[in-house]
Amino acid sequence: MELHINGVKRTVWSASDTSLLQVLRDELDLTGSKYGCGEGQCGACTVLLDGVAVRSCRVPVKGVQNKQITTIEGLEKNGQLHPVQEAFLKVDVFQCGYCAPGMIMSAVGLLQHNANPTEEQIIGAMNGNICRCGTYPRIVRAIQEAAK
Ligand code: FES
Repeated sequence: MELHINGVKRTVWSASDTSLLQVLRDELDLTGSKYGCGEGQCGACTVLLDGVAVRSCRVPVKGVQNKQITTIEGLEKNGQLHPVQEAFLKVDVFQCGYCAPGMIMSAVGLLQHNANPTEEQIIGAMNGNICRCGTYPRIVRAIQEAAK
């Protein structure tokens, strides 16, 4: 199968019902997307499919062949972090950092569709991303910062 990942065409050999997360991590060595629950509940594995945030642990790789896949590794351009990454650093969001890639991808997906979300809209969009360290207030602030 051929996949379009971070602007590059990649050939993968995994079985078609393998999860996209497993293909990214185990076959393509793109380990930024994290395995948390494996059941679509925590958001650690979030990537963008055609600009929409999805849980890659629940997406069979056969369903994404004609889509543009963006992972956390694809956000940096020409040595410049994405504005959402910059904002997460500026606000000092991270504690353990395990949820961070999924949080950032969900935030990027939100801002691509709503450049100036309200606090309620941010909380609603980020609702499915769990942070065991409880950094939620800083995450909201970072997204507000990125939207400026
Ligand atoms: Fe995919 Fe938790 S690992 S949602």
